[in-house]
Amino acid sequence: MALFEIRGLVKRFGANVVLEGLDLDLHAGERITLIGASGSGKSVLLKLLIGLYPPDGGRIVFDGEDVTNLPERGWIAVRRRIGMLFQWDALFDSLTVGDNVAYALREQRVLDEAAIAARVAESLAQVSLPGIEAMWPADLSGGMRKRVGLARAIATRPEVVLYDEPTEGLDPINVTRVDRLLESLRRVHGVTTIVATQNMRSAFAASDRLALLHGGVVAKVGTPDELRAWDDPRVAPFVRSSQLRAKTRPSIPG
Ligand SMILES: Nc1ncnc2c1ncn2[C@@H]1O[C@H](COP(=O)(O)OP(=O)(O)O)[C@@H](O)[C@H]1O
Ligand SMILES: [Mg+2]
Repeated sequence: MALFEIRGLVKRFGANVVLEGLDLDLHAGERITLIGASGSGKSVLLKLLIGLYPPDGGRIVFDGEDVTNLPERGWIAVRRRIGMLFQWDALFDSLTVGDNVAYALREQRVLDEAAIAARVAESLAQVSLPGIEAMWPADLSGGMRKRVGLARAIATRPEVVLYDEPTEGLDPINVTRVDRLLESLRRVHGVTTIVATQNMRSAFAASDRLALLHGGVVAKVGTPDELRAWDDPRVAPFVRSSQLRAKTRPSIPG
C-alpha cells in the first residue's frame, strides 16, 4: 500500500485548471521528486497533500485514511506526521529564529519547554546553524532563512517531509549542504521525501523516482534511468539540464 494514494486529483483557480485528474502513488521511505515547468502545479500539489487547499475533485488517501475532505481539525492530526518546507520561506518575522523553529512543537503540546529548547537546538545544528536561536529572521541571509525553514520543517520529527524548491536561490555550498541533509534524513531516519525542484542535477542524482507534471497530470513517472531512456520531448529538456555541469533551469519548448 502506498503512503499517499492520489487519484483523479483536480484543482482549479477560477478558469485556470492546474490539476486535471492527477494520479500518483508515493511510497513510504522513498525520495520522489516532482519536476515540471514553472507553473505546472508542483507547489499546488504539495499544498493539497497537507490540506492547505481543498481539491475540486479526486481523492487523496494518506496511510489508508481518505483525507480528501477532512475538516480542519482532522488535518491537524495528519500534519503532525508531515513536515513542509515552503517555496517562499514562511518565517514569522516577529518571532526569533528559536521561536520560529519551536512553533509547531508548541502547537502540538507534546514536549515541555526544556525538551522544546533541546529539540530546537538539535534541529538548528542539523542544518549547520547551531546556536542562532536568539537571532531575528530579518538579520539572516536568504540561504540561512531557507535552512531555518528546513529546521522548522523537521523539528517535529515528521515521517514525511514535503520540500518545495529546497535549494532555490542557494549558493553551491548550501545546495550541497541541503542535498546532504535531505539524504541523511531519508537514509538515517527513514523520512519519506517528496521534493519539488528545478535543480535537475540533484533531482536525477538523488531521487528514487521522478514524476513529471505536464498538462495537469503526471505525464511520466519512473526512476532517473527510466526517464533518461524515454524518448519523449516533454522529458528531454529536463534530462539535458541534469547533464549540464552548471546548475541551470531546463528550457521548455513551446
Ligand atoms: N493561490 C492561488 N490562487 C490562484 N492561482 C494559483 C494559486 N496558487 C497557484 N496558482 C496557479 O496555479 C498554477 C500552478 O502554480 P504552482 O503550483 O505554483 O506551479 P509550480 O510550483 O509548478 O511552478 C499557476 O498557474 C499559478 O498561477
Ligand atoms: Mg512552485
